This record gives sequence, C-alpha cells and structure tokens, in this order.
Amino acid sequence: MAAIELVVCMGSACFSRGNVRTLELIQGYLKERGLEQDVQVTGTLCQDRCRQGPNLTIQGECFCSMEPRAILDVIEERLGSAAGGRP
Ligand code: FES
Repeated sequence: MAAIELVVCMGSACFSRGNVRTLELIQGYLKERGLEQDVQVTGTLCQDRCRQGPNLTIQGECFCSMEPRAILDVIEERLGSAAGGRP
C-alpha cells in the first residue's frame, strides 16, 4: 500500500493552468528515486474549484496554485514523515 495518495485534477482548467506539467514532474521525480510504490498518483475530473487551480490533493489536503517544484517538496516532506525520516 502506498504511503501517500496524491490526486491531480485533470479537468480542463487545471490541466491548462499547469497540471499537465506538474504530473510529468511528479512522475519523473518518483521514477528517478524509485518511489513509485510509495506514492499513489491518480487523476480526477474537475472538482469545481477551477479559480483556485491548478489543484491537487495530497492525503486529502488541497494544494492550490502551487509551483510544480513546490509540490515535490511537499511530497518529499510527506514521504519523510511517513518513513519517520528522510525518504
Ligand atoms: S478543472 Fe480543476 S477544479 Fe475545475
């Protein structure tokens, strides 16, 4: 079972505002570090929060309008917490 669950909004607004790039970055980050089993990445349709987008949730917590690189920091922090230290 994955340590953390990440859901990327792939509705048209979030997709065009940057989630397509964010998804690529996340997948590359996880693959490079062999963390694909630790993070379950799924997509979702529009969550009716388009104005706040691009949106994604990590463990049910919404992250809105974040730079893609900042999301990687959050993932790293969450994985470190889940493992009791750095991933
Ligand atoms: S497209 Fe993401 S909240 Fe609407």
